[in-house]
Amino acid sequence: MCGIVGYVGPRKVVPVIVEGLRRLEYRGYDSAGIAVGSPESALLEVCRAPGKLQNLEAVLKDHPLDGTYGIGHTRWATHGRPTEENAHPHRDCTGRIVVVHNGIVENYLELKRELTALGHKFVTETDTEIIAHLIEQIQKDSEDAGAPLKLEGAVQRAVKLLTGAFALGVLSAAEPDKIVAARSGPPVVVGVGEGESFIASDVPGILHYTRNMVFLADGDMAILTRQGVTFTDFDGNPVKRELTRIHWDPIQAEKGGYKHFMLKEIWEQPRAIRDTTLGRISLDSGKVFLGEMDLGDEELARAASINIAACGTSWHAALAGKYMIERLARLPVDVDYASEYRYRNPIPDPAALGLLITQSGETADTLAAQREMKAMGSKTIAICNVVGAMVAREAHGVIYTHAGPEIGVASTKAFSSQLTALFLLALKLGQLRGHLDKAQSVALMEELIKVPAKIEEILRSASDQCEKLAVNFSNARDFLYLGRGVHFPIALEGALKLKEISYIHAEGYPAGEMKHGPNALIDETLPVVVLVTRDETDPASKLRYEKTLSNIQEVTARSGRVIAIATEGDSTIGSLVEQTIFIPPAPELLAPILEVVPLQLLAYYIAVRRGADVDQPRNLAKSVTVE
Ligand code: F6R
Repeated sequence: MCGIVGYVGPRKVVPVIVEGLRRLEYRGYDSAGIAVGSPESALLEVCRAPGKLQNLEAVLKDHPLDGTYGIGHTRWATHGRPTEENAHPHRDCTGRIVVVHNGIVENYLELKRELTALGHKFVTETDTEIIAHLIEQIQKDSEDAGAPLKLEGAVQRAVKLLTGAFALGVLSAAEPDKIVAARSGPPVVVGVGEGESFIASDVPGILHYTRNMVFLADGDMAILTRQGVTFTDFDGNPVKRELTRIHWDPIQAEKGGYKHFMLKEIWEQPRAIRDTTLGRISLDSGKVFLGEMDLGDEELARAASINIAACGTSWHAALAGKYMIERLARLPVDVDYASEYRYRNPIPDPAALGLLITQSGETADTLAAQREMKAMGSKTIAICNVVGAMVAREAHGVIYTHAGPEIGVASTKAFSSQLTALFLLALKLGQLRGHLDKAQSVALMEELIKVPAKIEEILRSASDQCEKLAVNFSNARDFLYLGRGVHFPIALEGALKLKEISYIHAEGYPAGEMKHGPNALIDETLPVVVLVTRDETDPASKLRYEKTLSNIQEVTARSGRVIAIATEGDSTIGSLVEQTIFIPPAPELLAPILEVVPLQLLAYYIAVRRGADVDQPRNLAKSVTVE
């Protein structure tokens, strides 16, 4: 949500910023802007445009800007429509201070009233504009009092008056070659180069220029100049922040010949799952190693239950994780939407372990749930994809999913990596709680190791089939996705993928619930995707398979058009349904990682056929940093 890129240094400022913003496009936005200054200029020049970055570039072509420092922004509208006026950067009355902002200022109306009474003139509908005026007023007051504040001093005072969430970048023409950044909520990463400094909302925005980064913590400020960066708290006290060396290959954050990031990321899943497993299991000892844990094995073993909180796709992973942990470790698991957790007045249980699942590690609702869990005395673990993200810093343990940067708004490789991490956690807990012996653990690990090759097989065999199916089904008005047990969360995920990128209405349902209402929807126009895989060696899986076959018959008896996801070698299914996508056999708890792949492909090809903006679906943001 909103992207910020700032630069001070010898390079041409505008291309650095525009290119950085392009690499942050995945975050979602509906207008863009840039402000540039130089020591020779008394003002900061601002250029903005509604819509995509190319609109901004077109304006910049007609009115080129140049300078030695600058800041850019892609805005995802919250307060005020996505117009040129409302696009960031925003100025104070003098045009000598500009601000870009990610987040929401909750008390902006109150501050606006006070500043208006002092004579400030506002020209936009945004909450952000008040920040520029507030800084202007604070500097004016400090001058009048004979103790003028520098920009960073004024920003320190201003942020203390704001309530809500913010990542800020501030420039002042009076103090050239300086950027002041502050964080309370949404992410800010600082890039430290030789004779140059950068800020961005996320690593890919500046990864082409530097790998040395510092992630600001909540309550941090950074003062960037050509000479380097200093870090303080909101009182101006110096704070020490560690430099993180980012090993991501910048190429990983590019399309690499694929038509869309989403397709590239679907194809990257075998690698992502291998990397998430790498170094974490030993086939010799049967042990699982979950690196970055401040929690000892004894403490993990003592957990009385697990509360998982997550949003969207990560919530679907959480639901599948419940099946894995309850089955392998016999430990009760509750799963909450993070946005609901705090508001349902949860019952404190310090013996319960909190588990947060989030690709970005910055989702506001998930962070709020984590704080609530900690306030109730629980230790928390995070499953997270972004190294150094907020959720990881606040957790007692973190299991990183090594999926690499996920740029497509629709989550794909992060999801399958989350399922992999959850399987590892379930294995670990199963061992610690005495429910899995060495032989059972090794057998499950051997199956896990086979998953990436099986996904490669699915990608090879099902891609064309899904593309062809898209021809027949892209005009459908609604879709249903059905599954039972651990496959039900995959039905939910399949439905979410389709609706978010193709804008077709889709619902996921537990197959057994159909007769309690949704059967009324079935007619000859309704495609119903059913997860009906089976693990011959597992009696529970066989029973679930039989029951799902009955559900399929209920659908076809009402003329519904069934697309089955079934296991290779199943000779029954073909005669019962219109279409079957076969996937390789796998144990019940690992099959979901395979099943989701054809559902991602189907959603992708349907969206492409409908001409939708696959990587940046309308109204959506990659990183949801406001509640
Ligand atoms: C769907 C999707 C979203 C995210 C959700 C949580 O494809 O990407 O539903 O899963 O916004 O985001 P994270 O995992 O970053 O907390």
